[in-house]
Amino acid sequence: MDAPAIRWGVLGPGGIARDWTAALHATTASRVTAIGSRSLDRAQAFAADFGVERSHGSYAELVADDGIDAVYVASPHSEHREHALLALAAGKPVLVEKAFTRNAAEAADVIDSARERGLLAVEAMWTRFLPHIDVVRRCLEDGVLGDIRAVEADHGQLLYPDGPRRLAAPELAGGALLDLAIYPISFAYFVLGGFAAVQATGTLTETGVDAGETVAVVGPRDAIGTLGSTMLAKTPCAASVSGTAGRLEIDGWFYQPNTVRLIDTDDRELDRYDSPSREHGLAYEAAEFARLLTAGKSESDLLPLDETLRIMQILDDIRAQLGVAFPGEG
Ligand SMILES: NC(=O)c1ccc[n+]([C@@H]2O[C@H](COP(=O)([O-])OP(=O)(O)OC[C@H]3O[C@@H](n4cnc5c(N)ncnc54)[C@H](OP(=O)(O)O)[C@@H]3O)[C@@H](O)[C@H]2O)c1
Repeated sequence: MDAPAIRWGVLGPGGIARDWTAALHATTASRVTAIGSRSLDRAQAFAADFGVERSHGSYAELVADDGIDAVYVASPHSEHREHALLALAAGKPVLVEKAFTRNAAEAADVIDSARERGLLAVEAMWTRFLPHIDVVRRCLEDGVLGDIRAVEADHGQLLYPDGPRRLAAPELAGGALLDLAIYPISFAYFVLGGFAAVQATGTLTETGVDAGETVAVVGPRDAIGTLGSTMLAKTPCAASVSGTAGRLEIDGWFYQPNTVRLIDTDDRELDRYDSPSREHGLAYEAAEFARLLTAGKSESDLLPLDETLRIMQILDDIRAQLGVAFPGEG
């Protein structure tokens, strides 16, 4: 939270843009200084709510704004490629909401553009930057759990059929996978360091996106992962990492600031870490981005772009197994 202050432009004044801006302003020195919308009225409404200096009625105007240091792309998945490329072409570094794009080919386009220009690009998988995940990272690096053998995580929210239209819409790359399952999948990838095999099964909505899926993975060293997601019910949203010497359990909701328990092989709780607050977790990714930008870095070691790309390839593979294709993705 002591990260240097930068000036943000927010692209798309939707639900997550509101939560993200509130977290940024509450807990960091950085500020949103410009908002861009397809509608000037919506941009001005957002600006009024958050004290943002400049409102733009188009994304092209936003990315051309000289008074911003970076762009937060907060549009639907289907638009991420176009909007991230727009910002990069205007010379602006980008923090792109998860899922980074709707498929791996689009992710590669954005990554190539950022690298060609030497501009910072980061996937806004906010969980990766949270303090309790740093605790998990250090436990893994220090070998506290012995050899890792299993990871479990789930993410279910009741979002269909009465939730946001975006989630039900194939043309906006809706569905549980890119919105919800990406959390357990990214978490398991981080824990295991990659997957040797991925097997998925699931169900589809009447609109043709995935309603939910169970994803079984095998890690590189005899580890298994059981990952679940649904947008038809609220599930515990808990996670665990088990090794030969003990396990870590993260209370639900594992993907936001929470408690991590270290449990031995006799089921005794040995230690625990409680996140300082459950609120404003979205600010950590923004703080990491500000640190990287100020240091002249072009990507994050906590979530490298090659890993973002690999995870998009895995999501493509899972979608192929489920039989979900988005219109217009080529
Ligand atoms: N990190 C998290 O916890 C979290 C939580 C929820 C969502 N997300 C991610 O954030 C992104 C946006 O989700 P959201 O729930 O905030 O969506 P949302 O509420 O629907 O907002 C999306 C915004 O994108 C803009 N937009 C641009 N092109 C659009 C199009 N073709 N159709 C609809 N809107 C369009 C709209 O603003 P204008 O039309 O005014 O320009 C809209 O306000 C997704 O990638 C999602 O996965 C992350």
